[in-house]
Amino acid sequence: MAFEPKEPQKELKYNELRIYSDEELNNYTEEELKNFKIKHDIPMLEDLEKGPWPSFVADAKREALRRRKLPDDRMMIHREVVEDMLGQLELSFEHGETHWKHGGIVGVFGYGGGVIGRYSDLPEKFPSIAHFHTMRVNQPASKFYHTDYLRTLCDLWEFRGSGMMNFHGSTGDIIFLGTFTEQLEPIFFELGHVLQQDLGGSGSNLRSPSCCLGKARCEWACIDTQDMCYELTHHYQDELHRPQFPYKFKFKFDGCPNGCVASIARADMSFIGTWRDEIRIDQEAVQAYIGGEITPNGGAHRGRDWGKFDI
Ligand code: HEM
Ligand code: HEM
Ligand code: SF4
Repeated sequence: MAFEPKEPQKELKYNELRIYSDEELNNYTEEELKNFKIKHDIPMLEDLEKGPWPSFVADAKREALRRRKLPDDRMMIHREVVEDMLGQLELSFEHGETHWKHGGIVGVFGYGGGVIGRYSDLPEKFPSIAHFHTMRVNQPASKFYHTDYLRTLCDLWEFRGSGMMNFHGSTGDIIFLGTFTEQLEPIFFELGHVLQQDLGGSGSNLRSPSCCLGKARCEWACIDTQDMCYELTHHYQDELHRPQFPYKFKFKFDGCPNGCVASIARADMSFIGTWRDEIRIDQEAVQAYIGGEITPNGGAHRGRDWGKFDI
């Protein structure tokens, strides 16, 4: 059965919705980045840039530099939010304790979840992270996105938030990291009314359900994970947005026991597709595989020197 969304779907066009020009999005050179110093000394964090793996410090510096170079009226919260976040983290390393306080409840009208209040306990020293609220953006089934949508989302968050985000949190949602209280309603309006995008769950409510690729791309799918995820997300809207449990509650959907979304580890209630017939083995194909007529992975890894095994 073909998938039928429950409401008409808008087609979003980045060129109509974009906030920044290409020049603004690419407003620094790699040379400038090399010479760039943020306003705080962060020797311990800079240590985390070493090594072969990606570093959130290196990423954050790029974002800090972009914000340095954007004109004042192109950002609705402080320009230095990324720099202050790094500065405060360095200080937390130095003091061996966090400088975030967990104070009060913030949110958007009508919802009890989706926004998580964050405040710095050193607002005089780090004014641009005096508020640093997190927003959850509900991921679509199997996390299929159109780039028009992603770019629009990035522009919105650059404009009204810190520009820092996390793809994705363990719940599965996109996490918007750090904004001020006054920006919450405008962002919520833009998401809901323009981008046709809901917030996800937080606190003691039903968390955003999430599912594997399922039938959309995977030959192992025994159940339609996307259909279940979509159906239950809609059915439990009230529970998703208005905390009414004593603790959070999660559903996750794996199409087969390979468990690509780790539903057992991540959910209170895991749905896992299982095969309900006799096990079927195509012995002829197995023989062809052994004999080399059928190549492993459709030949995808064939004919290249992969070098010495090295992890
Ligand atoms: C740059 C800073 C931060 C990053 C990168 C970050 C990242 C994340 C991520 C990825 C999640 C998981 C979301 C999910 O399950 O889908 C999360 C949840 C959470 N974070 Fe943070 N966070 C940051 C700042 C903070 C601060 C300052 C606090 C506390 C003062 C905090 C406390 C929490 C809590 C309590 C949750 C669980 C919330 C819930 O499930 O209701 N985080 N954070
Ligand atoms: C004796 C001290 C503590 C004990 C025994 C304790 C125990 C626990 C337990 C059992 C959980 C639930 C774990 C789960 O979901 O499986 C939890 C969650 C949590 N604890 Fe603690 N905790 C302690 C202190 C603290 C402190 C000092 C903080 C923060 C400053 C903290 C912050 C949290 C947070 C943010 C969560 C997750 C809540 C959520 O997002 O659902 N805990 N703690
Ligand atoms: S859990 Fe199973 S069905 Fe889902 S993507 Fe992974 S292998 Fe495919």
